[in-house]
Amino acid sequence: FYRFQLLPVHGIPFMKPIADNWDRIETFQAKPDDLLIATYPKAGTTWMQEIVDSIMNAGDLKKVKRAPTHVRFPFLEICNPSPVPCGVDVLEETQSPRIIKTHLPYELIPKSFWEHECKVIYVARNAKDNAVSYYYFDLMNKTQPHPGTWEEYVGKFLKGNVPWGGWFHHVIGWWKARAKHQILYVFYEDMKEDPKREIRKVIRFLGKELSEDLLEKICQHTSFKAMKENPMANYSAMPDSVLDQSISPFMRKGEVSDWKNHFTVQQNEMFDAEYQKRMEGTDLKFRCSI
Ligand code: A3P
Repeated sequence: FYRFQLLPVHGIPFMKPIADNWDRIETFQAKPDDLLIATYPKAGTTWMQEIVDSIMNAGDLKKVKRAPTHVRFPFLEICNPSPVPCGVDVLEETQSPRIIKTHLPYELIPKSFWEHECKVIYVARNAKDNAVSYYYFDLMNKTQPHPGTWEEYVGKFLKGNVPWGGWFHHVIGWWKARAKHQILYVFYEDMKEDPKREIRKVIRFLGKELSEDLLEKICQHTSFKAMKENPMANYSAMPDSVLDQSISPFMRKGEVSDWKNHFTVQQNEMFDAEYQKRMEGTDLKFRCSI
């Protein structure tokens, strides 16, 4: 694989295979019991997937550990050539209920999901930590455009000149969509603060009931430490030629406020000024954003 070029789809930059196959994604046929796990890249997708899989399998870890995360969760918009299986192809063969990963901004979700009133769990992460995590990911993921220096990357991130487009557009678009659809909007920082509380919300949203013992087991299984060591969750099943974990591990730090180790004072001031402009008028609030 090589670092794919970015091409716009409805104004949002996507890696070439996604842009080339946009018709197939747009016309995808959802089913009423499909569940979307939607995120901006690096907001905590894999963590939420592991939580949802554990809940759906009632904490049966044998079933949860049956395959690597990129195999267990079809990735809706991913198309060939790609190191992960093409989402639309895999989904046609997947038994319901299907748990589907997507990074699409709200307005690009295939309409069929809304016609069937599908449920969505959206995970959002504060912009600065999200940017740092995405920077390291773009360094180690050999299919994504090279991020350049951190200084260059901060500019690209703020402009939304990265795969799947801008963070502001994404988190605000999905936030507003709560008014129209069944969306559970979860914050990474809340999951870090009290994973049990947030997992309980997910259980309720999925209409399940689990014992306190199982809840405890799921908390342990989905902790950063456990997931970092779990080959079915830590992406070690992907070849180094795609994800080079010697550059940066997929389970990198898993912390809140790591941005403080990366932003210079100037970068922080510039970021804050842009942040204030872009978040004006929304009631979406992040605890660690500024
Ligand atoms: P960092 O790079 O800040 O460490 P995604 O799954 O959306 O690609 O997000 C990856 C980010 O979520 C990485 O952030 C990763 O470490 C973090 N992450 C994954 N599992 C986690 C967990 N159980 N607890 C906390 N953070 C987790």
